Amino acid sequence: MCGIIAYIGPKNAYDILIEGLRRLEYRGYDSAGIALLNGDMNVYKKKGKVQELVDYTRDKNVNGHLGMGHTRWATHGRPDDVNAHPHYSGSGRLAIIHNGIIENYATLKEVLSRLGHTFTSETDTEVLVHLIEEIQNRENLSLGDAVRKALTKVIGAYAIVVMDRENPDLIVGARKSSPLVVGIGEKEFFLASDASPIIEHTNKVIYLEDEQVVELSLKDGIELTTISNEIQKPVIHELEMSLDQLEKGGFAHFMLKEIFQQPQTISDCMRGRLNAVEGWARLGGLEEHANKIINANRIIIAACGTSWHSALIGEYLIEDLARIPVEVEYASEFRYRNPILGPQDIVIVISQSGETADTLAAAELAREKGALVYGIVNVVGSSIARLTDGGSYIHCGPEIGVASTKAFTGQVTLLSLMAMVLGYRKGALSNTYYHQLIAELAQIPGKVEQVLSADGQIRELAQKFAGTNNALYLGRGYNFPVALEGALKLKEISYIHAEGYPAAEMKHGPIALIDENMPVIVIATNRSAYEKIASNIMEVKARKGIVIAIIDDRDQEIRKIADYCIEIPTTIEPLTPLLSVIPLQLLSYHIAVLRSCDVDQPRNLAKSVTVE
Ligand code: G6P
Repeated sequence: MCGIIAYIGPKNAYDILIEGLRRLEYRGYDSAGIALLNGDMNVYKKKGKVQELVDYTRDKNVNGHLGMGHTRWATHGRPDDVNAHPHYSGSGRLAIIHNGIIENYATLKEVLSRLGHTFTSETDTEVLVHLIEEIQNRENLSLGDAVRKALTKVIGAYAIVVMDRENPDLIVGARKSSPLVVGIGEKEFFLASDASPIIEHTNKVIYLEDEQVVELSLKDGIELTTISNEIQKPVIHELEMSLDQLEKGGFAHFMLKEIFQQPQTISDCMRGRLNAVEGWARLGGLEEHANKIINANRIIIAACGTSWHSALIGEYLIEDLARIPVEVEYASEFRYRNPILGPQDIVIVISQSGETADTLAAAELAREKGALVYGIVNVVGSSIARLTDGGSYIHCGPEIGVASTKAFTGQVTLLSLMAMVLGYRKGALSNTYYHQLIAELAQIPGKVEQVLSADGQIRELAQKFAGTNNALYLGRGYNFPVALEGALKLKEISYIHAEGYPAAEMKHGPIALIDENMPVIVIATNRSAYEKIASNIMEVKARKGIVIAIIDDRDQEIRKIADYCIEIPTTIEPLTPLLSVIPLQLLSYHIAVLRSCDVDQPRNLAKSVTVE
């Protein structure tokens, strides 16, 4: 949520900032802005996407070897040119960009107003830069000291970068609860919200920790401290990401690329963790904690959005295969409802980005209460990955489309492995079933490939339903969370109202909505409840609803009663979500394209939600 990029070095900062903003745009796209230092401090900002900013700056002076850029997802203040970042201090000497929320901004604003400060925007960010300047002037401090001091007065979350017109060889960055990464190049430095804009320049990075302040100067190098000015030793990491992972690679959208990458990303997630020939499954990160998890009171899985849907599948998997009680929580609810939690509990947090504020806070709360916290995360080195006691990466590579696809199947693959490993170790799984699960999981990438070959058929189906205003998704058992995910995908990117429901629960409400205009997507592959789901389809048909059924290749009955069918290969029930979700991803994608929606950057959303 909000993207930050800053540069100091011999090159022209503008090009680096604009390219960086394009890479970070998935984090927010309400407005974009840059500040450049070239004697003067020039700030240019514009409502809308980065391209608007590029058009606006075409005839402007964009020289300078030091600069910073911001792409915004609005919190305080509507998305317009004035509220866009960067923001100037009162005198115009300082400029700031910020990701996060300064919660006590109203109190600080009042104090500063009494001291004569006037503000041009409605943002919390502008208050912070005024505070920094007030302290800098009043106490005659260096920029670094003024930033440190100001941050001790701030409540809330921040990743900030500050520039000073009077100091053309310095950028100051700081973070708390919002990510910030330092890139170290050849006689040049970068600061960014994540590594994606840095990777084409250098693979050496430092992940800032909470309440750290970094000063980057070509003359003096890197100085890292806490906000209370204790010197810190920087730890330099090497990035493993490659540039082509950040490109569309010939696909029309990142989302489509990511859907089609799934045979590969699921294989990557299983690499070194599953061997069907030798018949074993293992998860390195789990080894040291497996006994504790097996003997835990219960497991709580906390997550948001699509990750919450994979958490639900995780509940089904772990209870079914490992016989350990599991509860699933929205991270935002869990953290504020005073949950009963102790050292006998295990908390699993699932997050693609590893930065979602509510999930991060849930993990922090769980640690405070003494529970073991296990992370299932995609982004290597992210805040959640660094906070947890242990965990497993899903190894899907960068996911850029705002609507999550390959991260979902990566999370479900990881949870399947986890449930199998725990179940086998606990003795809850028979040897035969364990080996059957291994053999079936190994075949999933090939079967996903088969589902993807139905893309043309799904595109044709999308043409029939692109004009609909509502849709209902129904599923039972393992396919119920898939129904929720299918509905979320449709509403996120095509703005069609869609609901996911357990198929049998339909009778208790949604059935009232069904008429001849209502498409009902039924995920109908469950062998354990086949007749029941066939009856649910009959109930929809009796009310003239249009049924699109996801069936497996053994199906005899449902294909006779549904209006349209999409066939997926058969697998064992616990692994079905890995296949049944794919047609739903494609259906939403094609409907959104047909409705001319911005698939990769849907309105009002952001990929990485770093505010509460
Ligand atoms: C946002 C994204 C979703 C994502 C959710 C949780 O809402 O748009 O795609 O599922 O955040 O994100 P996380 O990174 O924690 O999985």
